[in-house]
Amino acid sequence: MKTLILAGGRGTRLFPLSRSHFPKQFLQYFEGESLFQKTLRRALLFSAPDEVTVVTSADHRFLVMDQMKGVGAECRVLVEPEGKNTLPAVLYGLKHAVDDEEHVAVFPSDHLVETDETYGAAMKAAGRLAEEYLVTFGVPPRSPQTGYGYIRPGTRVEGGYRVDAFVEKPDLQTAEQYIKDGFLWNSGMFLFNTRLFFEECRHCIPEALSAFEKSTEEAFRLTPAISVDYGVMERTKRAAVVPLTSAWSDVGSFDAFYALAEKDGKGNVVHGEHLGIDGGNNLIVSDRLVATIGVSEMAIVDTRDVLLVCPKAEAQRVGEIVGTLQTRG
Ligand code: GDD
Ligand code: MG
Repeated sequence: MKTLILAGGRGTRLFPLSRSHFPKQFLQYFEGESLFQKTLRRALLFSAPDEVTVVTSADHRFLVMDQMKGVGAECRVLVEPEGKNTLPAVLYGLKHAVDDEEHVAVFPSDHLVETDETYGAAMKAAGRLAEEYLVTFGVPPRSPQTGYGYIRPGTRVEGGYRVDAFVEKPDLQTAEQYIKDGFLWNSGMFLFNTRLFFEECRHCIPEALSAFEKSTEEAFRLTPAISVDYGVMERTKRAAVVPLTSAWSDVGSFDAFYALAEKDGKGNVVHGEHLGIDGGNNLIVSDRLVATIGVSEMAIVDTRDVLLVCPKAEAQRVGEIVGTLQTRG
């Protein structure tokens, strides 16, 4: 099976570690590897190296190639002329790397997924359903996050459910209601049959599909900038969801980062060197020695030009800092 890995996003939710020139997916803090590298390893469970294509931006192409070498796999890299969100990235990948009747797994590169038996079983179930449906993987929700897509499972089909409704990034109230109503989070991973995906694009967003009949430069100039979620998944009537029960996290904040990482005896996650008197349960990332006295439950993230200090429980709010910095220019 072919796999497309999307690695062109500029997420800044782990600011100041992740920046537009060094986004979250390339940070090598997860057993010494990045989320991109872990994604590549996952892709290689079901695809040979020459069946894997990474779609990324010119800015990140060398980072991608370097980290690919770290995994020891030589895969194809497609460089977009401009970033226009995930739907154009997927169409570009499908047109250049996948044949018409083939199945393709589409993976975001900013997640951790445990590859246990249930993961393998979910992939296989999705492979069967992809003949008839655009298949997405649904994760049991843990809290009313507004940054995710929500899926209402409908009638049962073998290995999953028809998608009754797909709603991308609802507001908080709606997300709370969806959790009560038994919706699943969209994991961001998909399994598509190329022909079916093009067919559904023709129904849902024909202007994007027709743009890709042109040269790559033209296609990216003409296509709307839109995600697969808004452009296709919210609109199609031919989607199915396969529940994924393996551990899944998109490491969307330092809080989540902390929860996933290995702790020392005092519950601290330390990347660098830390001397702590009393206190604990901190996340500390720095190239310098960090000394703390009586500090608990904090994220201390030190980079060359920015030092972030905040309670872990408020770490989701780094977006406010990024926003302020952007308006300051
Ligand atoms: N090549 C390329 N070009 N990749 C891109 C681009 C682009 O223009 N934009 C984003 N990506 C990559 C990101 O690097 C990431 O790996 C993946 O595509 C998904 O994009 P995000 O921007 O991170 O999407 P999201 O997190 O807001 O939402 C998606 O993921 C959620 C789960 O984490 C959606 O699929 C949601 O429905 C889902 O719940
Ligand atoms: Mg994301």
